[in-house]
Amino acid sequence: MKNIRDLDIKEKKVLIRVDFNVPLDDQGNITDDTRIRGVLPTINHALDEQAKIIIISHLGRPDGQRQKKFSLAPVAKRLSRLLDKEVMLAPDCIGPEVEAMVAKMAAGDILLLENLRFHNEEKKNDPDFCQQLANLADVYINDAFAVAHRAHASVVGVVEYFQESGAGFLLQKEMDNFHRSVDNPSRPLVAIVGGAKVSSKLGALRNMIDRVDKMIIGGAMANTFLKAQGHEVGASKVENDLLETAAELIVKAQKQEVKLYLPVDCIVADRFDPTAETKRTTVQEVPKNWMILDIGPATTMLFGEALEDARTIIWNGPMGAFEMDAFSRGTMAMVQKLATSHALTIVGGGDTDVAVHRAGESSNISYISTGGGAFLMLMEGKVLPGVAALEGKMEN
Ligand code: 3PG
Repeated sequence: MKNIRDLDIKEKKVLIRVDFNVPLDDQGNITDDTRIRGVLPTINHALDEQAKIIIISHLGRPDGQRQKKFSLAPVAKRLSRLLDKEVMLAPDCIGPEVEAMVAKMAAGDILLLENLRFHNEEKKNDPDFCQQLANLADVYINDAFAVAHRAHASVVGVVEYFQESGAGFLLQKEMDNFHRSVDNPSRPLVAIVGGAKVSSKLGALRNMIDRVDKMIIGGAMANTFLKAQGHEVGASKVENDLLETAAELIVKAQKQEVKLYLPVDCIVADRFDPTAETKRTTVQEVPKNWMILDIGPATTMLFGEALEDARTIIWNGPMGAFEMDAFSRGTMAMVQKLATSHALTIVGGGDTDVAVHRAGESSNISYISTGGGAFLMLMEGKVLPGVAALEGKMEN
């Protein structure tokens, strides 16, 4: 995959696909600008090259409808502040008005186009829409790792309309870090997989079992594994249709001599509520009508021990319902374990990322991915469509 440094962008019009899908509060204020900061190296390089920088992104899921709450206006302001430079915002991402704005751009100007998903054609990877986007520029750069798993127009289809295309620094860094940790890791390699559902992580579990030395499973998804082992899990969230699959994964791990760690104790609650009555129990003694909402202290210790000799740790998904303080201890304890580990630590997935930030430990993790779905797709061992498009282009 070529990257922006391999391409001649001097004074050229460069279309840069980024992922500015940032969280906003009720007043439309950006609550976390990590994704904006993440692409600054690419934008700064383009500025150094005196390129005319045209930035495209989606925000949220407006379903093809132009809606004010999904406007990229707050992002234009934040980007401008971060760069200490004017960032113009176009009223749309295609059409005559945008073309006129592009035509007037001088070297070093930055134009952010309005939300791509105001057009259904974006998600449909519509060729005509791709062509219209491509007509705006000479070179295409994809620096949108977090949306590289979507085969959308601005991520995939648009590439074939350009003679020159490549990855931005963020996309390159994300791919390098992931492959460094999984394809050629310093061992032992430990995967920690958590979160609500086995079903959404099944592909990742299957693929990672083939690669890791140890696998730690926590979060609500562990309940399905515990039940598959014959434990009663009370009123806990369980995917009954996946009990057999969970049992198969346990056997697969054994066969491949992968050490599998499941919770041995947990924090249970009488209801899913921050003020619920809670207690600690072993997984053998979960009371009927109570639900498991976090791992317990013995499990925290067990998982911590398992991480002790790790040289590489890859973590996706929280250990419990950490959004409620009462059930956040397990996840926070894992953050601390990673933060103090000497291993290469890679964290991916929205919730896990939030937990690390909330604990104030971001700077003590080797790499925090900006991707959720894209990171999971890599854990599944699949090729991201956005990356495949760039690589295919190279073969032409
Ligand atoms: C994300 O936040 O994971 C990406 O921006 C992709 O968003 P999407 O799930 O709406 O496609």
